[in-house]
Amino acid sequence: NEFQYGQTAGWPGLRKVLAKRLVKKDKLNCISGEEDWEKVLISTGSQQAIYLALDILINPGDIVITPSPAYLGFVTTVVKVGGHVVTAPTDNEGLIPEYVEDTIIKAEKKFGRKVKILYVVEDSDNPKGTTLPVKRREQLFDIAERHDVIVICDAAYKEMQFEERKPSMKTLDKDNERVIYTSTSSKEAAPIRIGYTIMPDYLFTEAEKSKGYLDLCTPTLTQRVAEIYYDKHIDTELPKIVQKYKEQKDAAYNGLIETFPEGDFTNPSGGFFIWYQPKGEKAFTFDVRKFNQEVLMPNEVLVVPGAAFYPPSGHSYDPEARDIEPLKVITGGMRIGYSFVSKELIDVGVRKLGNLLKENL
Ligand SMILES: Cc1ncc(COP(=O)(O)O)c(C=O)c1O
Repeated sequence: NEFQYGQTAGWPGLRKVLAKRLVKKDKLNCISGEEDWEKVLISTGSQQAIYLALDILINPGDIVITPSPAYLGFVTTVVKVGGHVVTAPTDNEGLIPEYVEDTIIKAEKKFGRKVKILYVVEDSDNPKGTTLPVKRREQLFDIAERHDVIVICDAAYKEMQFEERKPSMKTLDKDNERVIYTSTSSKEAAPIRIGYTIMPDYLFTEAEKSKGYLDLCTPTLTQRVAEIYYDKHIDTELPKIVQKYKEQKDAAYNGLIETFPEGDFTNPSGGFFIWYQPKGEKAFTFDVRKFNQEVLMPNEVLVVPGAAFYPPSGHSYDPEARDIEPLKVITGGMRIGYSFVSKELIDVGVRKLGNLLKENL
């Protein structure tokens, strides 16, 4: 079969290795181990899994709650498949359960339909770099259960942790009925770019069909490389990679606390990003897109403007009004990436950024 197409749901060898790893390392309890390999769906990157989940679940106008700000590859895909994004506020620990519950209640009242999906990146979110405390994971799962909302739990950054990993929300979903769990090789081994998903059984066949429409199957050669990587190499290679990113994060964070004007910023315990936003109204009035072009780029510094992490249309929950309002964008926020260049260059860049912010804010 070496010269044939592979199974749409993925190469069995890789699915077996991942099923075993998900139980051993991530302590998932909705599968029992290697023997449950058929419950693992392989995708071409986890972005494809996100697309599949939204494609099979979203009917036009269906409401999806996301953090504010949120991974742009998620919010834009919701709009592409006809969904309606309502953003919920976050702090430096991610989504705030009390506000998420009120967002569900107020959105259902305002739009006259049930909220369908809650999107959560529990470890080192993109763009803020926040990690949800265990208590919030439990509260969010409980809210999803009570309001009958499906959770898409995106574990893209779970391997890229500088501290001990917290148990995933998926471990609370013992019967595999509520949470779609997606992850990827991309954050520590991007050239492989294998996504893998555990989802409720009643969604699996539809997702598999949808994947078939997109690409018939993920290249078998890549999956076989991934099988060897997950079976033999990840646990020896990962600590070295994580250490390197941690040093880069420390360089970025130290430069930031020494040079930035007053504001809110995160101190990530993993992943690739720090988020900074000025205090008060400036979070919504300062235009980082303009600042990037007119000030930062001529000085050879670049950040990703906060406005990039919102859908082209949608609504937001306003915690002061305790109601759903037109989309509110943190244009004064910025994602500071520390994954790409050396810690020496990060140190120079972040200090330059801090001084330019002081002059321009
Ligand atoms: C939160 C999050 N989820 C999913 C993805 C998709 O990654 P991939 O398709 O490479 O697995 C990304 C990529 O940046 C991301 O930041």
